[in-house]
Amino acid sequence: MPETLLYERLAERLRGQIQRGVLRAGERMPSLRRLGREQRVSLATAVEAYLHLEREGLVEARPRSGYYVRAPHASLPRGLTPARTRAPQPIRNPALLGVLDVLGRKDVLPFHAATPSLELLPSAALATATTRVLRRDPGVALSYAVPQGIAELRQRIAQRYAQCAVDVDPDEIIITAGAMEAITLALRTVTKPGDIVLLETPTYYGLLQAVAALGLRVIEVPNRAGAGIDAACAAELLDRHSVRAAVLVPNFNNPSGSLTSDVDKRALVAACTAHDVVVIEDDLYGELAYSGERPAPLRRFDGGRGHVITCGSFSKMLAPGFRVGWVLGGRWATELLRAKCFSTVATATLPQLAIAEYLSRHDFDRALRRLRRELATNAQRYREAIAHHWPEGTRVSEPTGGMALWLELPAPLEGQALFEAALARGIGTLPGHLFSNRGDYRHHLRLSCGLKWDAPVEAGLRTVGSLAQRLLA
Ligand SMILES: Cc1ncc(COP(=O)(O)O)c(C=O)c1O
Repeated sequence: MPETLLYERLAERLRGQIQRGVLRAGERMPSLRRLGREQRVSLATAVEAYLHLEREGLVEARPRSGYYVRAPHASLPRGLTPARTRAPQPIRNPALLGVLDVLGRKDVLPFHAATPSLELLPSAALATATTRVLRRDPGVALSYAVPQGIAELRQRIAQRYAQCAVDVDPDEIIITAGAMEAITLALRTVTKPGDIVLLETPTYYGLLQAVAALGLRVIEVPNRAGAGIDAACAAELLDRHSVRAAVLVPNFNNPSGSLTSDVDKRALVAACTAHDVVVIEDDLYGELAYSGERPAPLRRFDGGRGHVITCGSFSKMLAPGFRVGWVLGGRWATELLRAKCFSTVATATLPQLAIAEYLSRHDFDRALRRLRRELATNAQRYREAIAHHWPEGTRVSEPTGGMALWLELPAPLEGQALFEAALARGIGTLPGHLFSNRGDYRHHLRLSCGLKWDAPVEAGLRTVGSLAQRLLA
């Protein structure tokens, strides 16, 4: 194995230990000799790994003493206010029912967009792969694909699930226009207007919009800051209400960034199965765990019954504009394929071919390692900047994957007011009430930490912080 990979892997392992709190701020890191001995690497590799973590701002060298876990510069209050549950109801938040104009704006600093900057993605390699497939066989690239999607791409997706011990038959996969089409097809297939669906609160506004478009009613289970979906509360809600489907984001929910534990995942799948509730899993961020340990999809707890429909996408890992996602249909695979065929015939051919080509010729795992590392470092840097420049009492989530930062602003400051003030200064954010059926989270704001860290990003965070100070004053 090349030495560069070895030190990167070692740094990744140590980074994971710091992020999980195994090594805490202020604690001494293992000495270089001990690290070398324990991890069976050379002294040079151990030094390289520490230098790497130092550049990321995670550790600091103290003369004649060794390396220490760096404490954030200023401290933030811990924990966010827990969510409430309510009776089932249609989507009532008018802000969700219009087009969210800010999403398409290219003239603002895009803290509102939960996608990594193109510099953090293997964009050049993907562009090369796209040109190659177009040149090689333009006839194929410019024709309709089969409704299910290109076989080689489906096989590659099945291989990635095999890496995290989830068995997927490529024939069960349907390629869709992003995860959003996968989720909409799944909802359309298993529900009818007026049915009740279980969602998390807070949750991604796109899920709320999909549910609104299909005339469904919503019941909400709290997504606890740092702990994810409350499975005991979900089981209670399923006992009391006749729920048809649950649309859940257990791996790094957007906006809270929380990861649901395996214990809760197992309990959620068991409760849904017992109540004949179809689980629609949005596993968009599963591959973006900062520790590098891919958390299990809910499907792993289904015991092969096909009760879980898993939706995924390349949007956050390769190219959001390609609109390539997928759905693992479980026992609804045939109905889902029919729904796909009757709505858009097939997903665009060229992006499918280009991604299949990229995955066969390039090192996707390496690109993902780099992306996770950058996102982990960003999350820390953004939190530090907020601790420095934002009003006292601002609370920020502590994500361990994905790129969402969920902020609770000190009252009476409202997310909408800060969103408008920032937009007027050319900075995009999203107000918290977009992440709720009823327009809750008035004092929240969601930022993306997917922008490559540089001076404009740092200045942007400082500017929004001082706008918040001014609005509060
Ligand atoms: C939780 C969640 N699901 C789905 C989507 C949309 O994904 P795609 O671009 O693959 O349609 C997003 C995008 O931000 C998201 O955060």
